[in-house]
Amino acid sequence: MNFKETLIYWYAQNKRELPWRKTQNPYHIWLSEIMLQQTRVQQGLPYFLKFTEAFPTLFDLANAEESYVLKLWQGLGYYSRARNLHFTAKYIANELNGVFPDSYKGLLKLKGVGDYTASAIASICFNEASAVVDGNVYRVLSRYYGIETPINSTQGIKNFKELAQSLIDVDNPGTFNQAIMDFGATQCKPQNPDCNICPFVNSCVAHEKDLIQSLPVKTKKIKVKKRYFNYLVVELDNDTTVLEERTEKGIWQNLYQFPLIESSKIIDEEALVKEELFQSLFKKEVSIKLFNHESIVHKLSHQHLYTRFWIVKTSEVNQSTISWSKVEEFPVSILIHKFLENYKNSEN
Ligand code: ADE
Repeated sequence: MNFKETLIYWYAQNKRELPWRKTQNPYHIWLSEIMLQQTRVQQGLPYFLKFTEAFPTLFDLANAEESYVLKLWQGLGYYSRARNLHFTAKYIANELNGVFPDSYKGLLKLKGVGDYTASAIASICFNEASAVVDGNVYRVLSRYYGIETPINSTQGIKNFKELAQSLIDVDNPGTFNQAIMDFGATQCKPQNPDCNICPFVNSCVAHEKDLIQSLPVKTKKIKVKKRYFNYLVVELDNDTTVLEERTEKGIWQNLYQFPLIESSKIIDEEALVKEELFQSLFKKEVSIKLFNHESIVHKLSHQHLYTRFWIVKTSEVNQSTISWSKVEEFPVSILIHKFLENYKNSEN
């Protein structure tokens, strides 16, 4: 058997049963593929179920409030994916009469749909032979063929796409694409794959040359930027607090947060109260307590956020306030969500 036959035979026996594998409905496939970018299947699954329950059709998603979409997305990260998802649902509902483009080329024009997602939808829903290349595919192909070209280089991206395209089963492209991804996720795993039970054990170059640990090759990481976040958790006498919408472009746009003072390093209380935002927010006397002395480090791909929450008690602020009982209704970042959980528990 050649590569594609062996792979598809393996898949028939080892395929994961997943809800989106029971359909070729592009709305469902699109949802699942957007969710599964940078997210493992097990982690994405509950979100898929939540979304299809809340928005059974594309029109339900298109007609939803953005804040509700973001609320349901909470915890999946990369919120621009959720905003693009909502934008694209509205676009397809309103401009395309609810009909998905039915080709790789047409799909690629949608906001938030890149090469990977367009290939996945085109192959699974419309039987178009367009190969997907995700992290799993890079790993499987680089090991099987012993390819050392960095997978994040321009040359690597081009070569691996061409290779995957040359291997795809043109009669069953959707099956082939899902088979190679499942194979990478469950058999040809990043760490300590069990090569003894692999159907490719006798033809895999990495296995033969003991290169499993060193493939795929990735070029050096970009420098990670450190940022210092000080959240002001306002506690007013009437059981209210302050939440603001994060309008700034970049991480967590349109999510809600406590008033934030970003500093260039870790600051103490004395420096905090001198900050312009602090001065403008509070007009009465305040009492300040640092909730976490040790910064919580929230790691994103290009930046690490060193975060401290300051509890500020006072009787009045220069800003509109909301009741603490309503806080949970607002979409917030996972960082704020975790803080709220800890804070709730610490008070009781
Ligand atoms: N990861 C992302 N999409 C997938 C799919 N359709 N099958 C297997 N793994 C995936």
